[in-house]
Parts: sequence; structure tokens; C-alpha cells
Amino acid sequence: MSDRQILPSWKKLQQLALDKKTQHMNTLFANDGERFEKFSIELPNLLLDYSKNLIDCETMDNLLNLAEETEVCQWRTKMFTGEKINRTEERAVLHTALRRKSDEALILDGENITEQVDKQLIKMEAFVNKVRQGHWLGYSGKRITDIVNIGVGGSNLGPQMVTEALKHYSDGAVNVHYVSNVDGAQIVEVLRPLDPQNVLFIVSSKTFTTTETMTNAKTAMKWLTSASFDEKSVAKHFVAVTAHKENAMSLGIEADNIFDMWDWVGGRFSLWSAIGLAIALDLGFDKFKELLDGASDMDQHFINAPLRNNMPVIMALISVWNTTFLGARSQAILPYDQTLHMLSAYLQQAEMESNGKSVTWDGDEVDYATVPSIWGELGINGQHAFYQYLHQSNNVVPADFIGSVESVTPVKGHHETLMANFFAQTQALMAGVNEEQVRADLKAKGRTADYIDKVAPHKVHKGNRPTNTILLKRIDPKTLGSLIAAYEHKIFVQGIILQICSFDQWGVELGKGLAAEIQQELESNTISSKHDCSTASLMKFYQKAK
Ligand code: F6P
Repeated sequence: MSDRQILPSWKKLQQLALDKKTQHMNTLFANDGERFEKFSIELPNLLLDYSKNLIDCETMDNLLNLAEETEVCQWRTKMFTGEKINRTEERAVLHTALRRKSDEALILDGENITEQVDKQLIKMEAFVNKVRQGHWLGYSGKRITDIVNIGVGGSNLGPQMVTEALKHYSDGAVNVHYVSNVDGAQIVEVLRPLDPQNVLFIVSSKTFTTTETMTNAKTAMKWLTSASFDEKSVAKHFVAVTAHKENAMSLGIEADNIFDMWDWVGGRFSLWSAIGLAIALDLGFDKFKELLDGASDMDQHFINAPLRNNMPVIMALISVWNTTFLGARSQAILPYDQTLHMLSAYLQQAEMESNGKSVTWDGDEVDYATVPSIWGELGINGQHAFYQYLHQSNNVVPADFIGSVESVTPVKGHHETLMANFFAQTQALMAGVNEEQVRADLKAKGRTADYIDKVAPHKVHKGNRPTNTILLKRIDPKTLGSLIAAYEHKIFVQGIILQICSFDQWGVELGKGLAAEIQQELESNTISSKHDCSTASLMKFYQKAK
């Protein structure tokens, strides 16, 4: 039995879960008209309503006891002060330092990282202004009109998700494009309409060894130099963001064109660093700073708010309750604003790469469910695709519904329709409709008894499906910064409660290593005897067929 399971709160929650599994949220709402007041948190620019979960005051008290008994507050201090809580990589976890408003020194391994961050922000600002104002010129003396960010995982998802989410705020000074897939189809498609004279590439890679990114970067360099006929043009068209400057330089990128990243920033938490350069180029540096400010506000809330009113803590506790205690195995992320269309992909990496693990930080096998699989889509599109499953399958999928009060692109009649669906869905998922109601409704519509008998079971919605509602005032850089930081801290708290080392990602290494070996075999038309017969036969088929 793990350390966690012997905690009094854990044991109590296990008992409560048995009881709650027999209850319906309709009864909880009928018995308590103040659930919204009790189970919601309002911050200046966002509101979390978690009342539509199978919880009551006793459940919440015990979940909060669990947070106390697992020392969430002490771990929070360790993270913010730079203790090496990424144990397996022996690294600090300090993405919060990237958006810290204080000038106070933060010393890590004898270095003041506040100074390092400030230095990079100053370098970013100067660069962003130079490009946006047309003073950074390409090899033929023309201004830069298009930015292509080459990166994958954390070096792509965060920046691209934010670029999409904040499209409305772009003034069009430059056009930003992203290339992440090593399938040549993507880079070819992105580069096809562009003119090499006007394009600036950002090669974003913390390690600067990621094969996909290196392959795309080399292709981009060839594309440029075959137009410029000059290797030196690379200096005018390529910048890099990395924690390994020497690797970027050996690819041919000028030392001055390299922005720093640090090993104390995890890839999936890095959009606040120069990895977010494409965002700053698109929106301007002031808007990028607003994004950082929003995240910083959430950091302060996370540090200072009592656990009971602490948004990221509550989000984590609800997720642990639904997953570890009530047995849900997946969780849907359902944004309703069009511009948040990449949010679920972004959170997939953030949550699953962080907590998708099955040993504790001491290396013991965990004997409880950890993070659910995260998936999702824009809510309206989902309604006409997979919501059938959310409403009536025999698998309960808790969901986060994310919407905004004000539309940034108001079109008469649209936002009310959008939000009517937003509110209707969480109510329907919670309340459902029982057989008696279905029969009464069909009868009122004049249906025959035979028809009612046949159809009624199919129209029953059991309801009792947990949802959180996150309502943003509007999608703007500050609010988005706060939302992303809330999820980051949720992931951290969840990891602490479940004893997961949230900041490593060993699970991606095995496949990477094998791919490198297989690539050599494919290129030399050989097949190693090490492979199982399925893999060997597939490779043989491929080699023969191509
Ligand atoms: O393969 C997963 C991963 O290691 C992520 O953690 C990371 O965000 C991504 O690859 C990209 O890594 P890099 O920024 O070093 O290219």
C-alpha cells in the first residue's frame, strides 16, 4: 500500500466515494439550493463553477484534508523557491520565474535567474520591435513579413495554441506559421506561398537534438540558401531558442541570434520564455507581457488564496476525486470559443506528459488511477459528433466546459446561440431525463403506447455526469495567461497528491531511441534481427513496396 492510501483523508474519501456512487446530483441540488455559492470561485477575470460534481461539503472538507496531509502548500513553496523537485532529472521547476513581477533575486545554483530572465526579455523586446517595425532585413534588403516557427511538443503547442487563441489581437505586422510534423507535407505546404526574402525562421527546441525539428530546420535552410545562393543569408533568416546554444551554433545559427532557455523550464511549461517568441512577434511585446501578467496574477492567487478558494487546488482536487476515487478514466476539455480550438491538444501534452505515469516519485508502482486521458474538441463541433457518448454511454467522462461572457468578434445573434448551448449541455449532462419524464413527454406528443414502449429506453439520459464550468470574462492576453497558469498549477497539485514526478517525461524516450535505430535500417535497406516478427515484417513490406 502506498504512503497516500494510509492517510486518514484518503481512507475517508474511499468510503465517501462508495456512498456518492449511489447518489444523483439532482438530489444534491434539490437538497441544497446554495451549491453554486458553496462550490464556485470567482476571480477578477474568470469564474470556476464546480458544483456540478458528485460532491458535498463533507467531500470537499476531506479533499481539502487530503491537500493538507499531502503537504501541497509546502511543495508549492519548494517549487516557487527553486528546490529541485524534478527529482529524476535533478532540476528545479521554475517556469513561474519567467513571469514573476518582482525584481528580487532568485538564486539557483549560485546564479540569479531573475537577471537571466530579464536579460532575455530585453533581448526579445528589442528583436520583436526590430522585426515588427521592418528594421530587421532579409538577405536582399527586404523586411520580414512571415515568421515560421519550427518546433514540436512544448516548443510548438503552447505558442501555436496562444497564437490561435489571440488571433483577434494580431495587427498583421507579420504572419505567423508553425511547422511541427516531420512529414514533409507540412513544411512544403507552409513554405509554398512564401518568398524566402521575407521569411524569418525560429527554430525552437530546448534540447536542439529533437530529430523532427532538426530535419525541418535543415530543410528550411536549404530552401532559403537555394534561393539566396549564399550560406551567409542564414544569419538574416534564422534565430533559435534553446538551452543548448552549442547545438544551435553547430547547425549554423549565429550566436547573437540565439535566445536562451534553461533546464529549469520544462518544455510543456515554456511558452512564457523565448519559446513564446512567435507569440510576441505576432501580437507585439506589450501583449506578450500582458499574457505573462495574467499568468503572474494566477501565480499570486495560487500562492496566497486559502486552499478552499484556490482555483488550481480545487481543479486538481476535483480531478483526483473523479479519477482516483470515482473511477473516471478520461476527461474532456470542451472550449466553446472558436479561437480556443487548440486548447485540448495543448492540455493533452501538459497533463498527460506530466502525470501520465504509474510509479511514485520513490519509484514504487502506484496502486490507484492517476491522470485521466485528456481529449476534446470545440464544444459545438463535439455536440454534433461525440456528445452522444458523453450523454448516454456507459462510461462517465467528466468534462471542463470553457466559455466566455463577451465575444471578441461579436456577430449579431451568434454568441447567445453559442452560450445557450454551453449552459444547456452542462445542465443536461447533470440532470439527464428519466423514463417517467420521457414517457410523459411522448404521450403529450400524442405517440402510441407501442411506440412509447419501443423508444422510451433509448431516450433516457441518466445524467449525473460531472462537469466544471470555466467562464472567462473575455478572451484576452491577460485572461488567457491566467487560464493556462491555472491548469499548470492544477497539474502540479495533482502530481503532488498522487506522488507523481510531474516534470520528467521518460515515457517518450524509448520510442525515440528505437526510431533512430530503425531510421538507419530504413536508410541502409537492412533489418536487424532484434525486431519482433511483426515489426520486422512491416519494415520488410515497406522496404519492398517503396
Ligand atoms: O518528446 C517529447 C518532448 O521531449 C517534450 O517534452 C518536448 O516539449 C518536446 O519533446 C520537444 O523537445 P525540444 O524542445 O527539446 O525539441
